[in-house]
Amino acid sequence: MKLLITGGAGYIGSHTCVVLLEAGHDIAILDDLSNSSREAVRRVEELAGKAVAFHQVDLLDEQAVRNVMAIEQPDGVIHFAGRKAVGESVEQPLLYYRNNVTGTLNLLQAMQDYNVRTLVFSSSATVYGEPDTFPITEDAPLNPANPYGRTKLMIERICIDLVAADPSWRVSLLRYFNPVGAHLSGRIGEAPDGPPNNLLPFIAQVAVGRREELSVFGDDWPTPDGTGVRDYIHVMDLADGHAAALNFLADNTGLHIHSLGTGRGYSVLEVIAAFESASGRRIAYRIASRRAGDIPTSWADPGKARRELGWQATRNLDAMCADAWRWQLQNPQGYPKDTSG
Ligand code: WQD
Repeated sequence: MKLLITGGAGYIGSHTCVVLLEAGHDIAILDDLSNSSREAVRRVEELAGKAVAFHQVDLLDEQAVRNVMAIEQPDGVIHFAGRKAVGESVEQPLLYYRNNVTGTLNLLQAMQDYNVRTLVFSSSATVYGEPDTFPITEDAPLNPANPYGRTKLMIERICIDLVAADPSWRVSLLRYFNPVGAHLSGRIGEAPDGPPNNLLPFIAQVAVGRREELSVFGDDWPTPDGTGVRDYIHVMDLADGHAAALNFLADNTGLHIHSLGTGRGYSVLEVIAAFESASGRRIAYRIASRRAGDIPTSWADPGKARRELGWQATRNLDAMCADAWRWQLQNPQGYPKDTSG
């Protein structure tokens, strides 16, 4: 298939592009480079041994989005582009609703007008909010606790209405748990701008000496060791999940929802221990107060994706930490700053 990948220069987008190129798809990337690097696209081409079309476009530029759709005429779209920092969304909700929701409306309108009706959307486990029961299944109550999660849920609902109006659409909503790790080569990985919001990149930057110490946000949670428990999933397993969802949509019209997780939760202290073992470095940390908006526990029931997509995660926490460490050690400052423009 010819695929348009929005946000394809980003962390999950770049890893998914490598997997899709290796599966024989042709790729065009649309990315505004606001939280990603042109170098990542170059490395995707290097890893896959295949050229990729690139369009530096902001989804809020409606005409530019339509121009890309007309030029590329894709068979389908994988939509990663969007802002994703929970804390930032609480401080700047309008930025999140405009960027994530309005940007997606521009994309969907262009798809509809150019008769592109296959979509894989990057949703998030954040739509579940603080669940009552575990593991979390796709039919769990949806109650996001922050504007970021609410933008993801709004976009899911927009897709539901779109498919109800025109059942010829083929839509996959993928609810990611906690993506971590990097491609085995260490050539692409997670390169957050500024101090990382997420646990793994922060730990990796402590290990490589970029950060002094990790703040553990609370050790008084109702969990086995008192620290937060999450379902971490290797970004390459997540990328494989997108390829599986595309194959599923080839045979299934309508809208389909799947969680992408491992079904296993790990605490912050367990992740620290695993990373120390993988890197051979000690991770200095201190216990800090809880972070606003955090929930104690979250992990997926991955059964529906296994049954319907024929997909399940295969990489364990040790591989996640070893691969994240290899990327960080080879790229201590992340991607080089773009000089070529
Ligand atoms: C994991 C655990 C923290 C940082 C968020 C988004 C979610 C998705 C993944 C986009 C928690 C603890 C963290 C630190 C810490 N993003 N922690 N010190 O919050 O589960 O999910 O990122 O889709 O939508 O909500 O991930 O990595 O921030 O936190 O102690 O410096 O690590 O309290 O228990 P989270 P996280």
